[in-house]
Amino acid sequence: MAASSFLWHYATILLAVMYCFLPRSTSSLNLEDPNVCSHWESYSVTVQESYAHPFDQIYYTSCSDILNWFKCTRHRVSYRTAYRRGEKTMYRRKSQCCPGFYESREMCVPHCAEKCVHGRCVAPSTCQCEPGWGGPDCSSACDSNHWGPHCSNRCQCQNSALCNPITGACICQPGYRGWRCEEVCEAGTYGNGCQQKCLCQNGAACHHVTGECKCSPGYTGAFCEDLCPPGKHGQQCEERCPCQNGGVCHHVTGECSCPAGWMGTVCGQPCPEGRFGRNCSQECQCHNGGMCVSSSGQCLCSPGYTGERCQEECPVGTFGVSCRQTCRCENGAKCYHISGACLCEPGYTGEMCEVRLCPEGHYGLKCDKRCPCHAENTRSCHPMSGECSCQPGWSGTYCNETCTPGFFGESCQQVCQCQNGADCHSVTGECICAPGFKGSDCSTACPSGTHGINCSATCGCKNGAQCSSVDGACSCKAGWHGVHCSINCPSGTWGLGCNLTCMCGNGGACNALNGQCTCAPGWRGERCDLHCQDGTYGMDCRERCDCSHADGCHPSTGYCRCLAGWTGPYLHSILMSDL
Ligand SMILES: *[C@@H]1O[C@H](CO)[C@@H](O)[C@H](O)[C@H]1NC(C)=O
Ligand SMILES: *[C@@H]1O[C@H](CO)[C@@H](O)[C@H](O)[C@H]1NC(C)=O
Ligand SMILES: *[C@@H]1O[C@H](CO)[C@@H](O)[C@H](O)[C@H]1NC(C)=O
Ligand SMILES: *[C@@H]1O[C@H](CO)[C@@H](O)[C@H](O)[C@H]1NC(C)=O
Repeated sequence: MAASSFLWHYATILLAVMYCFLPRSTSSLNLEDPNVCSHWESYSVTVQESYAHPFDQIYYTSCSDILNWFKCTRHRVSYRTAYRRGEKTMYRRKSQCCPGFYESREMCVPHCAEKCVHGRCVAPSTCQCEPGWGGPDCSSACDSNHWGPHCSNRCQCQNSALCNPITGACICQPGYRGWRCEEVCEAGTYGNGCQQKCLCQNGAACHHVTGECKCSPGYTGAFCEDLCPPGKHGQQCEERCPCQNGGVCHHVTGECSCPAGWMGTVCGQPCPEGRFGRNCSQECQCHNGGMCVSSSGQCLCSPGYTGERCQEECPVGTFGVSCRQTCRCENGAKCYHISGACLCEPGYTGEMCEVRLCPEGHYGLKCDKRCPCHAENTRSCHPMSGECSCQPGWSGTYCNETCTPGFFGESCQQVCQCQNGADCHSVTGECICAPGFKGSDCSTACPSGTHGINCSATCGCKNGAQCSSVDGACSCKAGWHGVHCSINCPSGTWGLGCNLTCMCGNGGACNALNGQCTCAPGWRGERCDLHCQDGTYGMDCRERCDCSHADGCHPSTGYCRCLAGWTGPYLHSILMSDL
């Protein structure tokens, strides 16, 4: 700058017109640009200089003598400004791009001899590569192990992951995850980006890349969804089951789960006596010497006992295994529920107590009393007490009473099943129907036209009368009476039972059915209590009187009632005077 100010000093003496030639660079490069280099260069310019030009100047001056006051002249050298051309050497600052740079759009940009393909020329012959590219001219892509500008960073990705040549980010292979793909997929996921959900079941592991299921012991199937098939267990279901007697082996451990009634590691031992069920863990509950089935615990009773736990003796009258045998003890003897042996009542003996100790018809310790029973109705007379035991259909202390109506049979304990008031046979229970009914249970009424016991009688009712199926009595229709309804109501009566009196007057007849009157000729009206009207006569007053010279005619006969002086029965009656 010192040089510059010097120049400017110098320039002050130059003419203003010169100014425009003064020290400006020919280019418009920015001097502040560090890549702009400058130097001084000299040059000559043609200038017009001003200078003091001398000339001889004559002027008048007052003379010393007064007379010639202004006649005196004098000389002197004077100067005036004049101009002339001259050469002037000047210096100016010359700026241009520094070596290695070239000018582009008023800027100095570095020059790279080889073009930067994927990068920028940042200094002479120096490329700055974009991330992912390297080489002097940034034309070679990063290899798989490097990334970033000039491929200068080492990839950190593991497990064959590719690395983004620009950012260095790892692109994991299927089955891996993490910043550096250093981890396998989280449990339960697999595949690309660990996005797939494992479908393996029953605790199976899933391959982090393929999703393939690796089954836990005891399971099989593509998704390990199945238990090992029967008879197999363990890892990959390859082990054989050792269980016997229907024992089921655990699909994982192969441990035997024995069926009820069996125990031991391979279910080879039956339950010990008195125990049953799974693991033989239950105690048998059978009483009275009953054995229990080791699988179910069901009791197998010894003879004479029954019930779920053999806790009951056989019901009276039965004995033996399952109480299936029938006791044959007689005369009220007890039967031993186990063997069926008879325990006789006093007075009896024999295997079945069938033998009476006293002869027939006698009883008592010495067999000296006579039985009071009516023998024909008696089954037995107790040899000790003389008590009578009756045949079916008989009762009473002495077996001489029939059953009360409605009962029959052994000890008169059975109930008759007969209907409509029927009784039943005291021995057989057969129905004895009441009159008017028939059928085995007397439920059928007699068909019409019959009546009585067994419906065996024929009805005799006449003239549409109804017959009672019980006793054959006839219910006569109106107008009839008599036992068989064969007789008309007596004259003067009518209706049901001929109970109504005819109301027909003046010899009128009455309809036995409805009491309607049929009037005698010359009468009319409901009760035949009115004469025929004048001029009419006869049955129902249907005839017209045919009289002349008469005061009407006789209502029943039609005979004219001639006026005085006239006679004759009818119209052509002649005057008496004519005779
Ligand atoms: C049988 O025994 C096994 C092992 O002691 C036990 O797990 C199981 O529950 C038992 N089963 C029964 C029905 O008691
Ligand atoms: C049954 O017999 C006893 C004694 O033999 C007698 O007193 C009684 O009247 C009889 N009863 C009938 C209903 O016959
Ligand atoms: C009714 O019928 C039964 C059986 O057919 C017979 O035994 C009985 O004697 C008959 N009774 C009369 C009263 O006819
Ligand atoms: C007829 O009259 C008598 C006596 O009044 C009566 O007892 C009877 O039931 C009557 N009969 C009819 C069928 O009305």
